[in-house]
Amino acid sequence: MIAPSILASDFARLADELHAIAGADWVHVDVMDAHFVPNLTLGLPVVEALLKVTDIPMDCHLMIDDPDRWAIDYAEAGAYNVTVHAEAAGDPVKLAANLRAAGAKAGLSIKPGTPLEPWTEVLKHYDTLLVMSVEPGFGGQSFMPEVLDKVRAARRLVDTGHLKLLVEIDGGINTDTIELAAQAGVDCFVAGSAIYSADEPAKAIEALRDQASRAKGGN
Ligand code: DX5
Ligand code: ZN
Repeated sequence: MIAPSILASDFARLADELHAIAGADWVHVDVMDAHFVPNLTLGLPVVEALLKVTDIPMDCHLMIDDPDRWAIDYAEAGAYNVTVHAEAAGDPVKLAANLRAAGAKAGLSIKPGTPLEPWTEVLKHYDTLLVMSVEPGFGGQSFMPEVLDKVRAARRLVDTGHLKLLVEIDGGINTDTIELAAQAGVDCFVAGSAIYSADEPAKAIEALRDQASRAKGGN
């Protein structure tokens, strides 16, 4: 699955930029609050507006403090998957239950320096695990291959039936890095600059998906 990140798109033309990624599996929307991360992007009113102009399932990545208070609003607005950060969540098990009760999938994200192992029990309550492959806050950074050990560990937990979730990766995914991530066991690839800097974003999505699929030994 490919999830283009609109962080790399033209914010003055967001509706057009959503139409440019026809064929995307999810659209990834980065919410930043200038507290959990240094950057500030967009919030609920923009997400609500975007939901009205697209049928692509929305993947909201909340890089915010106090997600226990704020994440539910994104689920109630109609986001398909709502991801919160493990480092910011107060009661992640309850948070996941609330997100699911509001009709969304629940996602948990871990920063590059956050180990996976302490979160494995909590992850039994989640539908997606978002492994950050850059420090959250900005697009266009370089991929950190060292996080792939966590992807491999998560893949093993899923394949052995200990967890039931999608493994997603975010940060620095492009034609040079997607094969490594695919071989490590990623299911869903977020890509911002690699897709929106392309002349034809829809074709870039197809190319990345084909490359990932070939690397996994698919068609
Ligand atoms: C970074 C964001 C990413 C970002 C990825 O904090 O979470 O989703 O948009 O951008 P690229 O693909 O350019 O690294
Ligand atoms: Zn993101």
